[in-house]
Amino acid sequence: MEGEKAPAVEVCKGVNGLDKVVLREARDCSAEVYLYGGHVTSWKNDGEELLFVSNKAIFKPPKAIRGGIPICFPQFSNFGSLEQHGFARNKQWSIDTDPPPFPTVTSSRAFVDLILKPSEEDLKIWPNSYEFRLRVTLGPGGDLMLTSRIRNTNTEGKTFSFTFAYHTYFFVSDISEVRVEGLETLDYLDNLQERKRFTEQGDAVVFESEVDKIYLSTPAKLAILDHEKKRTFVLRKDGLPDAVVWNPWDKKAKAMADFGDDEYKHMVCVEAAAIEKPIELKPNEEWTGRYFSLVWSFTSDMDHACIC
Ligand code: BG6
Repeated sequence: MEGEKAPAVEVCKGVNGLDKVVLREARDCSAEVYLYGGHVTSWKNDGEELLFVSNKAIFKPPKAIRGGIPICFPQFSNFGSLEQHGFARNKQWSIDTDPPPFPTVTSSRAFVDLILKPSEEDLKIWPNSYEFRLRVTLGPGGDLMLTSRIRNTNTEGKTFSFTFAYHTYFFVSDISEVRVEGLETLDYLDNLQERKRFTEQGDAVVFESEVDKIYLSTPAKLAILDHEKKRTFVLRKDGLPDAVVWNPWDKKAKAMADFGDDEYKHMVCVEAAAIEKPIELKPNEEWTGRYFSLVWSFTSDMDHACIC
């Protein structure tokens, strides 16, 4: 009806008829979450898209959606014998209608709770029972928060361990004008050099060629500065000590079927992760990993001087 406000939470159909949940807040802020993968595919402030999703992304199981925020669980990359980045990103999640309460009550109306549990088939691949609860919240100011709660529900006293990442693809206007701050002087494993350990020398991470690094024991707060757009993404994380920075650059971009040849210019992945020290859960134990992101506009270089 005319003048009627769109609902804060709406379940509808997305690309290829896949189920998605749309979250809405004031000032044209929104987020979209696909049940396929428990995958955030859009985050907008003032109607402007802040996440990158490839024009060639395949919204069709079993391929994970290229872009947005894929969830890497229970394995990051090939750190183990499972498929690359684990299976959570290509499983069908469900809406969790009765999630256990959170310690703090959210003031937001725009959130959704999803749940993933293993099927009989899944247990053959990774023989562990778990409940993975994901809450995606769009805050009243347009900020985006993802909270993962993973519980070991094994009944035979079995502990399990896993690695994890929120594999976030941020949209940037020009990768050569982007800096990632907060990682300077830290140690990293370079995926392009057999995961050898180095120490970051620059005063920020900048991009002139392919970058694929796992920074270790990183601070809770990181920032991505997009000079051309004059905006900064401020990221906060909790329970996730590591941070992956990835841009495939031209050669690898061309080799990916679901990624445009020039799209590397408009994205950067800064991933909140737990990789170096896998998370270990005894039966009935629960782990929480939180990731929060907001965007600021700046008008001069001085405006972002105090971020990190
Ligand atoms: C990053 C890894 O997290 O994900 C890269 O560090 C990898 O090595 C990239 O290439 C993309 O992975 P995928 O499986 O989505 O193509």
